[in-house]
Amino acid sequence: MTTTVYVGMSADLIHPGHLNILNKAAELGEVTVGLLTDAAIASYKRVPFMTFEQRKVVVENIKGVEHVIPQETLSYSDNLRKLKPDYVVHGDDWKDGVQKETRQKVIDVLAEWNGKLVEVPYTKGISSSLLHTMMKEIGTTPDIRLKSLRRLLAAKPIVRFLDIHNALSGLIIENTKIMTSDGPREFDGMWGSSLTDSTAKGKPDIEAVDVSCRMVTLNEVMEVTTKPIIYDADTGGKTEHFVFTVKTLERLGVSAVIIEDKTGLKKNSLFGTEVEQTQDSIENFSAKIRAGKNAQATRDFMIIARIESLILGKGIDHAMERAMAFLNAGADGIMIHSREKTPDEVFEFCRRYNQLENRKPLVAVPSSYNSVTEKELEEHGVNIVIYANHLLRSAYPAMVKTAQSILLHGRSAEADNDMMSIKDVLELIPGGK
Ligand code: SPV
Ligand code: MG
Repeated sequence: MTTTVYVGMSADLIHPGHLNILNKAAELGEVTVGLLTDAAIASYKRVPFMTFEQRKVVVENIKGVEHVIPQETLSYSDNLRKLKPDYVVHGDDWKDGVQKETRQKVIDVLAEWNGKLVEVPYTKGISSSLLHTMMKEIGTTPDIRLKSLRRLLAAKPIVRFLDIHNALSGLIIENTKIMTSDGPREFDGMWGSSLTDSTAKGKPDIEAVDVSCRMVTLNEVMEVTTKPIIYDADTGGKTEHFVFTVKTLERLGVSAVIIEDKTGLKKNSLFGTEVEQTQDSIENFSAKIRAGKNAQATRDFMIIARIESLILGKGIDHAMERAMAFLNAGADGIMIHSREKTPDEVFEFCRRYNQLENRKPLVAVPSSYNSVTEKELEEHGVNIVIYANHLLRSAYPAMVKTAQSILLHGRSAEADNDMMSIKDVLELIPGGK
């Protein structure tokens, strides 16, 4: 009887380490590669550069690989029980860290039919993470960046975005990563907030910073980052102008634009009913969405409609009527905004929205109901969570504190403990020396 061998892999950036494993596997018997799907990979690290189909073509053409099948989860158990291979071959680098439990499960499941795990010594000097870092240094293209949001949404139940207002805030979102018991965690992308971009320019959030000026911010962020951007276009302006904004954003490689269903002089939503805010009619706003959709050149760019009914105290029925109309007009997603202290009304909206047959990704912005967790939002069907202003809000008090300290003491020594060192700031951005 043929000896069978199973190898699970992502195979995004194929390197000699992978080929070494596959060679060892082929020496043992007939090799089936369980190719992790985008969703399986995204459950513990970033979405791969290549799609599942692209990765499949590459692996199918590697010498010694007989079959390639999808592995839908990080856990090998389902595929192993189906195939009952004699061997699983893996690099020996998964004994510690996030994959430790997956490894133990493989050993336990194989034991059910006396199968064995064979571990190949890790190939030094090359790894997918190293290649990933090098690719990031090369950067990205507008096309790849634009498409990356749809890929993320297809691979992950919920994605997290944080506000940008200059290149440095973009770099923080690009590079900040923490390790948790579930693996590494980072932000998926950037929110081109009108509030924080306007504030950083010393202007109120009333569409006073014009589109050209907003694009300058986007450009400086895009020069130093690779992650997707969702752009806050306020009301989108006049329909005749919005179509040009769509074309510009697409050309830059922005993945999505969100427009809010308000008209007249825009005021920030978090003022609620304290200021005069007028909602656009369903007809006008639907026409704006349709015009935007007609203007875009790619199939991937997304126009997301933001509903202000809850902000204006008009209730869930009002919001739902708009959600249905805007989806019918071609919106690629809905953002529901609220300034309540609890997520209750947003969750009620979610329950009703999730029943829609043509439901599209749902965006929530938990600025005022900030005790809600991403897990809870995910359980209610929210697909994109936007932390809309938190980088600017944390930067400003720190700067004011330093300014006051210098004034108070007539020197800067007392402020030192609250600041990064000159050495660190010099080394923060590589290439300065
Ligand atoms: C922004 O960040 O500019 C937003 C979200 O539009 S909010 O400020 O809550 O309106
Ligand atoms: Mg805004």
